[in-house]
Amino acid sequence: MKILSGIKPSGSLHIGNYLGMIKPMVESQKRGELFCFIANLHSLTTLFDAAKMARHTEDAILDLLALGIDPDQSVFWVQSDVPEVAELTWYLGNVTPMGLLERCHAYKDALAKGLAPNHGLFSYPVLMAADILAYQSNVVPVGKDQKQHVEVARDVALKFNSTYGEVFTLPEPEIVEELAVVPGVDGQKMSKSYGNVIEIFGGEKATRKKIMSIVTDPTPVEAPKDPDKSVIFALYKLFASPGETKTMAERFRAGGLGYGAAKQELFETIWNHFSKFREKRERLAGDAAYLREVRRKGAEKARERLAATMEKVRKLVGVV
Ligand code: ADP
Ligand code: TRP
Repeated sequence: MKILSGIKPSGSLHIGNYLGMIKPMVESQKRGELFCFIANLHSLTTLFDAAKMARHTEDAILDLLALGIDPDQSVFWVQSDVPEVAELTWYLGNVTPMGLLERCHAYKDALAKGLAPNHGLFSYPVLMAADILAYQSNVVPVGKDQKQHVEVARDVALKFNSTYGEVFTLPEPEIVEELAVVPGVDGQKMSKSYGNVIEIFGGEKATRKKIMSIVTDPTPVEAPKDPDKSVIFALYKLFASPGETKTMAERFRAGGLGYGAAKQELFETIWNHFSKFREKRERLAGDAAYLREVRRKGAEKARERLAATMEKVRKLVGVV
């Protein structure tokens, strides 16, 4: 089974991204062959700063390697290092009805926000279809927001196969239910757009400050507290063992545990949880030669894996 996962590089990852997306992806390396790439071409639809593009892409490579993507076991590459995908986007675009793209929520949301959408944003799902179909992916794990785009990829595959001949495997979206929606420091869903995130690889001081800013009620230190109403506890239980979680709940209910002290323990728990990943990231960041090699080999491997499909496609459309 081929599992394909693309991540748009967009700056620092937060612990919601980790628990909702990256951890399941790292674990999927055990149940099939993982194709994991950094979707930097997709970022170009909204990011117009070359230096930022390069930095975000390099950060994403480091983040994913540090958090457990194994480039020997999986196929791990940067989207733009495989030019065939842009070529395939063009072939697919010609069997993609306008109406299919006009119905896409992400595009409609951009219109509703009054943005002047560019062609790249409009055809975003066609590039995504090329990503998915080029590698004959079977399963594409995505959050709810991207499900429709995988369905478009399926429709485009059907249309191409019926127009030219059977070539593409039909991909299945696999919805990654957010088992726990990770709350941000203000209690809303953690999201970059709400400015309430705890970064995975933030500095120690900044991370502590962020955690200390978690919103709490004015219950005094001595008073009993309901753990289930506390963001501190909600975050704590995502990282603590069942035993530690039970003890923390009891301490909340008993009274005597102040929110400040609870936040300090939460900080230590999160900080320690990511310490081995942080060390790995620092080690890798200092090894430019290794990173270059991972990127080069990844692109080579990805290109080998789509070569046969691309040959067939070029023959079918008549460009050879
Ligand atoms: P943001 O909301 O910060 O912009 P993205 O939309 O880029 O985050 O998130 C990418 C993926 O990370 C989502 O598809 C989802 O699986 C996961 N994710 C993001 N925020 C959370 C959260 N608060 N709880 C659980 N998973 C999340
Ligand atoms: N569009 C996805 C996102 O914004 C990223 C992505 C690009 C992707 N190509 C993909 C995801 C192919 C799955 C499969 O999150």
